[in-house]
Amino acid sequence: MVVSELRKKTVFLFISCGIIIIAFLVIPTIQSYLLNSSGFALNPEGKIINDDGTPASPMNSTIINLLINFSLIVKIVLGMALVIIIVRFITFLIFNVIIRSASQNEIASLVRTILSVIVCIVAFFIIFQSQYPKIELAPLFTGSTILGIVVGLALQDTLGNLFAGIALQADQPFQVGDVINVQTRFTGVVESVSWRGVKIRTFQNKIVVISNAVLGREFIEVAPRDNLNARIVFFNTLYAHSPAKTAHVIREAVRQCDNVSAKMRPVVRIRNLGADGIDWEIKYWLDDYTKFNDTDALIRERVWYTFQRERLEFAYPTRTLHIETKPQETAFIEADSEISDLISGVPLFDPLSDEEIEKIAQTSQLRVFAPKEKIVRRGQKGNSMFIVNRGTVTVQIRENNKIKPIRNLKAGEFFGEMALFTGEPRSATVVADEETEVLEIKHHCLKPIIENNPELVESFGKIIEKRRANLDELHDSVAPNEGDSVGVFNQIRKFFGLRNKTKE
Ligand code: CMP
Repeated sequence: MVVSELRKKTVFLFISCGIIIIAFLVIPTIQSYLLNSSGFALNPEGKIINDDGTPASPMNSTIINLLINFSLIVKIVLGMALVIIIVRFITFLIFNVIIRSASQNEIASLVRTILSVIVCIVAFFIIFQSQYPKIELAPLFTGSTILGIVVGLALQDTLGNLFAGIALQADQPFQVGDVINVQTRFTGVVESVSWRGVKIRTFQNKIVVISNAVLGREFIEVAPRDNLNARIVFFNTLYAHSPAKTAHVIREAVRQCDNVSAKMRPVVRIRNLGADGIDWEIKYWLDDYTKFNDTDALIRERVWYTFQRERLEFAYPTRTLHIETKPQETAFIEADSEISDLISGVPLFDPLSDEEIEKIAQTSQLRVFAPKEKIVRRGQKGNSMFIVNRGTVTVQIRENNKIKPIRNLKAGEFFGEMALFTGEPRSATVVADEETEVLEIKHHCLKPIIENNPELVESFGKIIEKRRANLDELHDSVAPNEGDSVGVFNQIRKFFGLRNKTKE
């Protein structure tokens, strides 16, 4: 791309230089030909005389002077064109071919403009003096106050921007790709920094151009692209809820959100003990700060789901006394009979009596998870199993540092039994595919049931053995492979303290 452009520019340079140089050489010849053919000549002092040596009439002198001045001006214009073409070629060569670092782009364009302007002004002086040696340009610029004022006023804004731009570049408070917030009026990603101003793309996808002079006077908040930038999201709870529990569950939920940096642990802390409840703030760090709006929204969504799961409640103004009928149970909390149906729908629980099923139902809890939320994490300790009531989940493992889904489980299927029955860490991560509701059955609820129904050890043992074998095939098992069913059964019995109560 750059090479082909360089080739084009080189050809253009040679052709235009050639034409201008030829024009330079030809103009004096045309000029003397025109003078001679009309019977005039220039004497050594540069005065116009007739062929016979007598001075030309004033009328003729004026016409010929005009002609001579015209050719001088054409030469000055051609000379300046030549200079501009050469300067542009050289700056292209230096800034686009030799210095090509993207981060230096803005500086390059600024320096390039300033250098080009200086070279052109100097060249103009030289060329002008070469054609009009008797006219002195310097006093015109240094001595003329009026010209100075006129030029100064005309260029006031432009020069202001230019110098503010130079100061900005020297200081480098931000770069392309950083998010800046100008006096809380405009927030966006810096797209370009030029000698005139800064272009930012707002989060409504609009372009805002702010001149350097204005920017130099404003407060600017900068979130550098290569920095770990933090955000704060607020929420509140009723006073009834334990702060320790709230902080823990919310932090865990925030950690799982996309774009929340794993390098810094999110901070969940009490901001204020308010009139209506406890005011909290979540401070978290982002991998990509340009997506902070989406990430804030995702965190608020996860806070809602966590509240649903953990039976936490938001605080709302409670100063007005109003009597209301008890709201209907939310969609996520089902009647006990439905929970019993869900449990008895699992074939492995077939040997259990209705009372035992009812007992499990009473001691278990329905929990709702957001799409993409992890229900259990591989390697963690776990003392509960789950039956999917609504939605679907994916069992996934890590292979070669990539996430690999191995099974989808739908309503009526269960997971988490491996850690619950053996006491080992979770063998895989299980993620909700959509909004998913699961019934969580804890170890302590199941223990008395298993003691009364030792055949459960066998049926669950077989499933665990099968799933383990499947994981072993995928080279990802964290569970020690004891090789045969007896190993698994013994492990379960030992974990539930059943060794002496059951037959092998
Ligand atoms: P646990 O190890 O407690 O936590 C992760 C769960 O994923 C695990 O229990 C099983 O319930 C489930 N799991 C692991 N491997 C498989 C598999 N191959 N097929 C189905 N489910 C599995």
